[in-house]
Amino acid sequence: MCGIVGYVGEKQAAPVLLDGLEKLEYRGYDSAGLAVLDGKNNINIARAKGKLCELFKKTDGGKALEGVCGIGHTRWATHGEPSENNAHPHFNDDKTIAAVHNGIIENYAELKGKLSRQGYEFYSETDTEVATKLVDYYYKKHGDPVRAIANFVLRVRGSYALAVLFKDYPDQIFAVRKDSPMIIGVAGGEAFIASDVPAILKYTKSVYYVANTEIAHVEKGKVTFYNLDKEVVEKDLTEITWNAQSAEKDGYEHFMLKEMHEQPRVVKDTVNGLIKDGKIDFSDFGLSDKDIAKVKHITVVACGSAYHAGVAAQYVLEELARIPVRVELSSEFRYRNPVADKNCLVIVISQSGETADSLAALREAKKLKMKTLAIVNVLGSSIAREADGVLYTKAGPEIAVATTKAYSSQLIAGYALALKFATVRNTITQERYKELLSELSTLPEKIECILKQKESIQHFASEAANKKNVFFIGRGVDYAVCIEGSLKLKEISYVHSEAYAAGELKHGPISLIEDGTLVIGVLMQENLIEKTLSNLVETKSRGAYIAAVTCGDDKKVENVADVKITVPYTDGLFAASLAVIPLQLFAYYLSVLKGNDVDKPRNLAKSVTVE
Ligand code: AGP
Ligand code: GLU
Repeated sequence: MCGIVGYVGEKQAAPVLLDGLEKLEYRGYDSAGLAVLDGKNNINIARAKGKLCELFKKTDGGKALEGVCGIGHTRWATHGEPSENNAHPHFNDDKTIAAVHNGIIENYAELKGKLSRQGYEFYSETDTEVATKLVDYYYKKHGDPVRAIANFVLRVRGSYALAVLFKDYPDQIFAVRKDSPMIIGVAGGEAFIASDVPAILKYTKSVYYVANTEIAHVEKGKVTFYNLDKEVVEKDLTEITWNAQSAEKDGYEHFMLKEMHEQPRVVKDTVNGLIKDGKIDFSDFGLSDKDIAKVKHITVVACGSAYHAGVAAQYVLEELARIPVRVELSSEFRYRNPVADKNCLVIVISQSGETADSLAALREAKKLKMKTLAIVNVLGSSIAREADGVLYTKAGPEIAVATTKAYSSQLIAGYALALKFATVRNTITQERYKELLSELSTLPEKIECILKQKESIQHFASEAANKKNVFFIGRGVDYAVCIEGSLKLKEISYVHSEAYAAGELKHGPISLIEDGTLVIGVLMQENLIEKTLSNLVETKSRGAYIAAVTCGDDKKVENVADVKITVPYTDGLFAASLAVIPLQLFAYYLSVLKGNDVDKPRNLAKSVTVE
């Protein structure tokens, strides 16, 4: 959520900051602002409500703000409405300090009271203004920015990435983070701060991942890190392997379209990353065969689509490895006082690796001394760093808010885990293992083949453009893919949809079916096709318009479905990888038809770093 950028170097800062903020737009925001230290030691700020283009206009693309050192921000309002007055950066009372902040200061009300008693006045509703004035309070007390920030850290509760300019320290930025992402890049005589890699990829690939409560003092081409006792902390630079192009649209109309088309490659890379000498190998991910043998149950925790990938993994893991698996929403797990169980492996799935609920669930599991494994896409992210073991999905940067390729790579990680656990637990024959491994390697070309039929899905989307309610039904893994298809549709097309296990419809929701309601059945499980088909017939008898996603040329399906979408055949366990593609395309084309902002749907953020 929200984006922070900082720059100090030889160039005019504001255009660099705007460029960086543009790259972070995908994270979701409702206002934006810049603060730049000019050559005369004044901090000048510009803020605007709405899209970045408003800030562009206001600052003439940044040219209107002089100076080579500055900070920028896109705000996703949590405290106070989206408005220019609440937009960051925020000032202290005498305008000698300006700060941008991502996250929430939970005890802001108490701190505001304390500062008010000290004579501070407040012009906005934000917790960030309180944070800025708290830094000011300690700066005035200690006369030292690092000590002021260290005191700030000790006094606040919550999550934050904070970047601060001090008028007394020209060409320098001070920054700190806790549970909100922040990286710092250096290149020649320049240095950059950002919430995420794409913002600075164009300028440098050498970055530092700032650890929780580490304070960074950023100067031209140089960064010094301190702990809370103001002792210098030595850190290693990480080299980013993506190129700037991987964060560009590459000629596609939307990032989502580009990312859907990257799925064959991403799936292939993820599969290849998990196989060594013809076998699934987890030894590099902190999970040896010995560790696996000790595991008696698995709990998967995740949010949104990552949770849906977990639901698919549950079916596959239980089927192949005969191990009990529970899948939970991170936001529930973290507060329900889960039972500590040293034989339980907790798997956290997250694209961003920064989702606040998933990070908190991971910490809860660690507190209970359970072994943890993260399945994460973003290198060096908080969840990746804190889990006992980490398996990186190889999706590359995902910019569209609605995930596609990261979800597809999470599915692969789930299959690989199931195959690995099955071999260690001896619940799979060599023959079946080899058969599934070879099936896994065919998925990329099968996905490619579905993507080639995209025009037929586009046509189906245009037929469905006026539908107000959509139901997705399926059984087993097909149900897992339904919940993901339904979420995609809600997220980007804003059409109300529900996903149900096909057999559950008759227990209530069938009362919502009326003439013309669209019901999409996923029929990829050979042994369950007839069952789900009967449920589709039940809705058709009540007027539903039926679409079926299936992999065979079953006449029975044709007789029931008004629209039949055929995907290549795969083993039922891997069905989600193929069936999800038409559902993604359907949501995408419907969103385009409605003229929605496909990549940045309303009210959503890519990385949900607040509760
Ligand atoms: C997916 O399209 C959504 N944007 C959302 O549900 C997402 O999957 C969820 O917020 C979890 O994010 P994470 O994978 O980065 O943890
Ligand atoms: N809590 C802060 C605000 O509402 C920061 C929100 C954000 O992360 O953008 O201004």
